[in-house]
Amino acid sequence: EKGGYDHFMLKEIYEQPRAIQDTYRGRLLADQGLVRMAGIDNHLEKFTNADRIIIVACGTSWHAGLVAEYIFEDLARIPVEVEYASEFRYRNPVITPNDVVIAISQSGETADTLAAIKLAKEKGAFVFGVCNVVGSSIARETHAGAYTHAGPEIGVASTKAFTTQITVLTLIALKLAKEKGVFSESEFHEMLTQLEGVPAKVERALQSNDLIEAIAEVYKDSTNCLYLGRGYNFPVALEGALKLKEISYIHAEGYPAAEMKHGPIALIDEMMPVVVIATRKGHYEKVVSNIQEIKSRQGKIIAVVFEGDESVKELADHVVEVPATSEPLSPLVTTIPLQLLSYHIALMRGCNVDQPRNLAKSVTVE
Ligand code: M6R
Repeated sequence: EKGGYDHFMLKEIYEQPRAIQDTYRGRLLADQGLVRMAGIDNHLEKFTNADRIIIVACGTSWHAGLVAEYIFEDLARIPVEVEYASEFRYRNPVITPNDVVIAISQSGETADTLAAIKLAKEKGAFVFGVCNVVGSSIARETHAGAYTHAGPEIGVASTKAFTTQITVLTLIALKLAKEKGVFSESEFHEMLTQLEGVPAKVERALQSNDLIEAIAEVYKDSTNCLYLGRGYNFPVALEGALKLKEISYIHAEGYPAAEMKHGPIALIDEMMPVVVIATRKGHYEKVVSNIQEIKSRQGKIIAVVFEGDESVKELADHVVEVPATSEPLSPLVTTIPLQLLSYHIALMRGCNVDQPRNLAKSVTVE
């Protein structure tokens, strides 16, 4: 049932080009210049009239929510707040019937997310679910929703659920951008075409597997690791760090690259690997200078860059190239090498990749 792969996690990492395609199939209609999603189409005014969107989720799904915050604000110009479901429900949040709440959950059974949904409904908000498991509790509790069509995710470490959640949320943002007139017909069409090109780019990113395995060999005995990114790739840094800690038990932290000088830079020495996502469009020069700061303190740099990069290549100890995309779509591609890196490191450390200690696939306790 692992389809020839040693672990579910690896199988699921490799399924991503297909899973992303399955998620937009029948929804992304580039030739008709259309995004069709029943859950949105039937409640379009709720979204276009919303004062703001509040996203609630936990773990990796919360990271997908953070990516969505950038996409919704950048493309559709709708204010977004992203909340840990567990914090949201316990802090007497201000919610009104003009708010749209989006709950993101692979399993659809996460207790904290479910409780946040119930609270939002009590306060009169419209609640939209983005779930993977069909017929799950969250899918049933929400007013409407859109499934990610990732197929079953068995590995406790979430991989294809993350990229397909981002795919669904991108489709929604694009649709709203068009609907609200923020996007012209041609801009909209251009983005749809680019999104259709993502699976092939993910496929290419997967080809760096051997290189990443070699990098993993170098850093497998590290005790700490930092992940840095800016803009759209800041949540990717958080997700990379979560993936590493949950399956390899190496302590890892994700930071917005510019925050480094406000504290974490004190940690950097020759023992500290720093994974930097340095895509050309995302504040590139700033990230390059962050890399220089790490180098001058003997930190080791593993950089994820777009193909053809020159500046970072000269500075980094290891460079992983991924195909260039427009910035809003970059998380779908830059996250791939980070998934593979944590997989290989965990494996080399003899960890149970699919079922890490202390963790369950769905967290049904609060
Ligand atoms: O099923 P959900 O998406 O609601 O799960 C949320 C988190 O428990 C989950 O993403 C967790 O953080 C994963 N183990 C991360 O890989």
